[in-house]
Amino acid sequence: MNEIRKLATETPRPNNFDAFWMGFTNNRAYKAGPRLVAAAEGVHYYTPEGREVLDGTAGLWCVNAGHGRPEIANAIKRQADKMDFAPTFVVGHPIAFEAAARLAEITPSGLDRIFWTNSGSESADTALKIALAYQKAIGQSQRVRLVGRERAYHGVGFGGMSVGGIGPNRKQFGAMLPYVDHLPHTHAPEHNGFCRGQPAWGAHLADQLESLVALHGDTIAAVMVEPMAGSTGVLVPPQGYLQRLRELCTKHGILLIFDEVITGFSRLGSPFAAERLGVAPDLLTMAKGLTNAAVPMGAVACRDSVYRAIVEGAPAGIELFHGYTYSGHPLACAAALASMDVHRADDLPGRVRALEDYWADGAHSLKGLPNVADIRNLGLVAGIELTPRPGKPSDRGMKVFNRCFDDGLLTRVTGDIIALSPPLIVEKSHVDRIFGTLAEAIRAEAA
Ligand SMILES: Cc1ncc(COP(=O)(O)O)c(C=O)c1O
Repeated sequence: MNEIRKLATETPRPNNFDAFWMGFTNNRAYKAGPRLVAAAEGVHYYTPEGREVLDGTAGLWCVNAGHGRPEIANAIKRQADKMDFAPTFVVGHPIAFEAAARLAEITPSGLDRIFWTNSGSESADTALKIALAYQKAIGQSQRVRLVGRERAYHGVGFGGMSVGGIGPNRKQFGAMLPYVDHLPHTHAPEHNGFCRGQPAWGAHLADQLESLVALHGDTIAAVMVEPMAGSTGVLVPPQGYLQRLRELCTKHGILLIFDEVITGFSRLGSPFAAERLGVAPDLLTMAKGLTNAAVPMGAVACRDSVYRAIVEGAPAGIELFHGYTYSGHPLACAAALASMDVHRADDLPGRVRALEDYWADGAHSLKGLPNVADIRNLGLVAGIELTPRPGKPSDRGMKVFNRCFDDGLLTRVTGDIIALSPPLIVEKSHVDRIFGTLAEAIRAEAA
């Protein structure tokens, strides 16, 4: 038995599943038959029973460089031994500056001012606040409106949730932020179904921003979109869509924010999707792959002009009333630096580009299986949309997920859509196993 599997089997099963209230989980169903993983290495998890589970989702779109990277673990340990924590309000510490400077080297050109956060949700809310502060700083204080897109996920803070466009994530929580509007989503399988990469149909949907400008005048501060929506089922941007959005934002004095929490850190074959898709935003949010998820961390990369308008335009004193106790946490910075080293040393963007055709072939080989309604892919991401069981939305998706897990594959399920986003170190044999296992599960849930 290999060492990591042994560690997993030596992990005692919890004897109390009640205390931990799990997020975004059907707690009753989960706790009726808990599925656990206890150790991880490379592209695999190991269960307490010693079963190997291929990680088809990089944890939760985050362990891009693969599990258990010693370079990252050692960097965290070294930093913990030297200085466990120091704040970044008023007092600074070297590694927070070093990590920001290194990150600024790989963010799209001009987006080289880094605000540290601890998660994708915090990054979303931070970016929205910076956008509002910027508009005020340049004398546009009437610009208080925020525009998102239907079927977008920007985390769970009130800003990201309000600007996000997922009904079920909002309906329990009251009134949301005021002054928010939404663009239509680009999901239209009747026009762009079973498309490899970016669909040709749909760029015109960005023009809806003109209608929102006509409606709201010069009160819009920012538009926030995921360049490729992940959590709502892998919605790949139509060709020209983001370019159009960029042009319209520039034309109307609106900041464009890209939420790259999923698409950042090599997932689409370049450090950020902005490069791969050829569109530069004004603010770019990230988290997840930034530290390979080894320590929670997020960031907002800001255009220099945004930073300068707020910081240089402010009266004496604090320029931006925002920040988190753990912004620039030393252990997270150590993990981020080591993780960026790994991305470069392993040429993870290059690996994605080399493998993405094979990956797309694997994904689209599922076409024709029972209930496969659509397949979408970009970089090392794929979304397989299944027809829901009549009157039982999510049932087929969840059962396919469970079967895959029991057959040794971790996927991500959103309703009846299976999303795949493996660690970027996967080999062709893993790709074969991912789509082979998924195909079996889809067949088994045909009825
Ligand atoms: C695009 C996007 N934004 C924000 C978030 C929220 O990130 P977190 O869960 O780290 O708060 C996610 C999480 O999946 C995401 O996919």
